[in-house]
Amino acid sequence: MDNPSIRTVAVMTSGGDAPGMNPAIRSVIRAGLARGWRMMGIIDGYEGLLHGNFREMGARDVGGILQRGGTILRTARSLEFKTPNGQRQAIRQINNAGIDGLIIVGGDGSLTGGLLLSQQGMRVVGIPASIDNDIFGTDMCIGVDTALNTIVDAIDKLRDTASSHNRAFLIETMGRACGYLAVEAGIISGAEMVLVPEVETPFEDVARSVDESYKRGKTHVIIVVAEGARMNATELANRITAMDLGFDVRVTVLGHVQRGGKPSAFDRLLATRFGVKAVEFLAEGQTGVMTALNGRDITALPLTQVISRQRTLSEEYLRMANMLAR
Ligand code: ADP
Ligand code: F6P
Repeated sequence: MDNPSIRTVAVMTSGGDAPGMNPAIRSVIRAGLARGWRMMGIIDGYEGLLHGNFREMGARDVGGILQRGGTILRTARSLEFKTPNGQRQAIRQINNAGIDGLIIVGGDGSLTGGLLLSQQGMRVVGIPASIDNDIFGTDMCIGVDTALNTIVDAIDKLRDTASSHNRAFLIETMGRACGYLAVEAGIISGAEMVLVPEVETPFEDVARSVDESYKRGKTHVIIVVAEGARMNATELANRITAMDLGFDVRVTVLGHVQRGGKPSAFDRLLATRFGVKAVEFLAEGQTGVMTALNGRDITALPLTQVISRQRTLSEEYLRMANMLAR
């Protein structure tokens, strides 16, 4: 049975944007409207929450956004919200606007903010969205699949030019302190090596891989370096160049291109399912939880668990990446 005390619900996107945030917004708004709730959008994440930047949203306001990257509600990083004063101000704004429930679409930082609001009595449901896939408790976050497709497409192109010129490419992927994107991209693009923050790789191993590739007659070397890896791509390139291992060396930092673009079919479906479930959880009276993908199912995972634990990198995948790079 629906919680009768919920009449108005707001949705916001926060932190780094991720392809699929728009389908999530659309799904939340329309699922809420289907329950007879008044639906609001918060503009500019926590920054907009603090300043009461709210907009009532109808079904037409979320038309035509399913296939669009970015977020129509925009996003921001707000230092002010991290302070107790900032959070008090946010709660005042929520109460003044008569908002009974809040759905926060964002990464681990945004979900930490959501947990704090729920601990102060707000009804909050989080939806994990971050290309990094660094959030504990969900198999996938919104945006990861699209980012991975972007990375693989870029690596395929870089390999074309690398082979034409006999070059070694060090390709930096995003992911903050998490090597997920680098490992998956390394496996599915056939990279010679993957370097991640979670594992220390001695430079000698990198040099050996380049040297052996040259001696085996390879026309290119692709090394995927996660942005948080212990040695960065430029530093590695300089050291490899200095050793004169046969290949000309180049660095490509993929950067924010990984955050944009049309959400993939997988991300559209995941975001849509998360949105519908988030509304369902609120209606059931659940709060302080996150929509989590476990296999094929979506469950409600307490944000206390999400925030207190660290997602670990699959050792099996890392082994696979290095084993197949021959
Ligand atoms: P993401 O959500 O993608 O991980 P950030 O880490 O930048 O991105 O977090 C987004 C926003 O969430 C921050 O700008 C801040 O307003 C809020 N936030 C992050 N960490 C905390 C925290 N520990 N306490 C309260 N709010 C936080
Ligand atoms: O969390 C998503 C992410 O793209 C990380 O991979 C990266 O470290 C960071 O955000 C970049 O942040 P900004 O958009 O502030 O440059």
